[in-house]
Amino acid sequence: MTSLPSSPGFISIGIGRVPLFYYLLHIPLIHLSGLLVNFIKNGFVAGPIRRKAGSGIYNQLYDLFMKFSHSIGRFIMGLKRPSKTTNLRRLREWGETLESFTIREATANDLPALAALHVQTWSDTYWTVKNPPTYEIREHQWREQFAVKDGSWFCFVVQNREGRLIGFAKGARYSHADLPDFGGELNQLYMLLEYQRLGLGRLMVGHVARRFLSMGITSMVLFGIPQNPSNRFHEALRGERLYDKKGDFHGGYGWRDLQKLADICPVD
Ligand SMILES: CC(C)(COP(=O)(O)OP(=O)(O)OC[C@H]1O[C@@H](n2cnc3c(N)ncnc32)[C@H](O)[C@@H]1OP(=O)(O)O)[C@@H](O)C(=O)NCCC(=O)NCCS
Repeated sequence: MTSLPSSPGFISIGIGRVPLFYYLLHIPLIHLSGLLVNFIKNGFVAGPIRRKAGSGIYNQLYDLFMKFSHSIGRFIMGLKRPSKTTNLRRLREWGETLESFTIREATANDLPALAALHVQTWSDTYWTVKNPPTYEIREHQWREQFAVKDGSWFCFVVQNREGRLIGFAKGARYSHADLPDFGGELNQLYMLLEYQRLGLGRLMVGHVARRFLSMGITSMVLFGIPQNPSNRFHEALRGERLYDKKGDFHGGYGWRDLQKLADICPVD
C-alpha cells in the first residue's frame, strides 16, 4: 500500500486524508446535530441563561452556549410566523382594518371556540412539540376555569368582523412567596399566526393591565420560555426579565407598575 504524501493542512482519518479545516469543523457540527436530535425528540425544553457570566471560564462558556442555543431556538420557533409586512398585506387583501376587531370578555358560551383557538395557537407557537394538548384537554381545562366564579381570573378574546375568535388573553391573581412583589399573572396570551404583529397583542395587554388595576392589582408576571421570539414583544412592552437566585433567566417577565404599562398600551 502506498502511503499518501504528507502535506501541511491535511490530516489522515479512516477514510483517507481530509483538510484539517474540515476535520475541525465536524466537532461543532456533531454538537449541533446533538442539539437538533434532542430538539426533534423532545421539542423545546426551557434552558437557563445567566444574567452575569461568572468569572470562571466554565461560566462564560456556559453563558455563551446558552445564548447561542436560545438564538437557534428563537430562529426555529419563529420559522412558522409570518412577518409583519405579510400580515399587514393579508389584512388589506381581506378588507379588514384594526377597527374591524372587537375585544370583549369571554363567557362560558365561548368555551368550544376558545378551546379550539387554544389548541391551534399553542401548537403553532410550540410547533416542534410532537404531541401538543388536544381539544379534549383544552375543553376540560376551560370548563374547569369557567366553573371558578370568585372573580380571581378573567379572559379577553378578540374576534374579527365575522365573529371568529382570533386571540385571547387570560389573567389571574398571583400570590407566590418567590415573587412577592407581583399580584397578577398574565398566564395565556395567544393570537392566530395570521393576526400577529398587527398591534392586537398590545391592545389586549392594554385591556389586561386596566382590568388588573380595576381589581386593585398593580403588578404582574408572565412565564414563558427563553427561546420564544415573542419575548421581543414583552421587551417592547418594557417587561423586566426575571432571574432566579443563581441569576439564570427562564423566560419570566415582570411589570411592577401596571399604570405605566396601561399608558403605553392605549385601548381607545
Ligand atoms: C405575543 C403576541 C400575543 C403579541 O401579539 P402581537 O399582536 O403579535 O404583537 P403587537 O403587534 O401588538 O406587537 C407590539 C410590539 O411588540 C414587538 N414585537 C411583537 N412581536 C415581535 C416579534 N416576534 N419580534 C420582534 N418584535 C416583536 C414590536 O415592537 C411590536 O411593535 P411594532 O410591530 O410596531 O414594531 C403574539 O405575537 C403571539 O400570539 N405570539 C405567539 C404566542 C406566544 O408566544 N405568546 C406568549 C406566550 S408567553
